[in-house]
Amino acid sequence: MIEIAGIGELRAWRRAQREQGRRVALVPTMGALHEGHLALVDAARAAADAVVMSVFVNPLQFGPDEDLAKYPRNLARDRALARERGVELLFVPEVGVMYPEGAEVRVVPGETASRWEGAVRPGHFSGVLTVVAKLFHLVEPEVAVFGQKDIQQVVLVKQMVTDLNWPIRLDAVPTVRELDGLALSSRNVYLTPENRTDALGLSRALLAAARAYDAGERRASALVANMQRELTVREGVQVDYIAVVEPERMLPVEVAAPGTIVAIAARVGNTRLIDNVILGEP
Ligand code: PAJ
Repeated sequence: MIEIAGIGELRAWRRAQREQGRRVALVPTMGALHEGHLALVDAARAAADAVVMSVFVNPLQFGPDEDLAKYPRNLARDRALARERGVELLFVPEVGVMYPEGAEVRVVPGETASRWEGAVRPGHFSGVLTVVAKLFHLVEPEVAVFGQKDIQQVVLVKQMVTDLNWPIRLDAVPTVRELDGLALSSRNVYLTPENRTDALGLSRALLAAARAYDAGERRASALVANMQRELTVREGVQVDYIAVVEPERMLPVEVAAPGTIVAIAARVGNTRLIDNVILGEP
């Protein structure tokens, strides 16, 4: 595995790949790697000849009251995991390389970014799309791989690639979970043992919605009611939103159909967690 922190070196590596006719897949991450990130690497390897992983904690996507300073960082561990899993190039730029002094242009997402996560985290998706746009231009991947776990991020990156006509295929990988259902997240390390139990409420509620759908329930209001039954017993869970939405613009639907997304965000102790399911999928 090669590790690169500079843009010139990255571009030179990319040129060489192109000359050899090798297809490149990009897996953008903020590090603190877990099995969810590594599942993206597996998908990337299946989709291309060489996998680039970026590890960059992007300050632009954190709000002033969010966890930028204490976001878990462990490059030595990330490096070992990435190498083991078959990443060919690890791109680890410093903040000053991605955002040199004077940089002020930002990607402005559309309406879809104002809903759900965007409503709770103003500016978050502009920060995400700005860094993803830069990574796409730096790496020029044929394929980019994202996790379904951050479903609104997937929807918005897809819109950016479509609206700006970038020749990049996007692959979304199903959420990797613990055995008990909790979605893997770098932020799970913040959970106390008690929080950890409460946090199960999210995946349990989503499972209840998926089961109700599979049993024939199509009314969004009934699906949400099912979820709330699962959540009210857990006093440590403060729900930010439960969304039953279509997958293009993430607008609410009253009647669920295959492909409808059920997404939830909640605070458990001091930690904010998100999770979702797509209805009608195994
Ligand atoms: P990060 O939270 O590190 O996640 C990197 C990628 O891993 C994202 O595509 C995310 O959806 C995926 N991922 C996280 N947990 C997962 C799980 N349990 N199963 C499957 N995939 C999972 O998302 C970001 O970083 C940033 O916003 C980024 C896109 C890198 C831009 O800064």
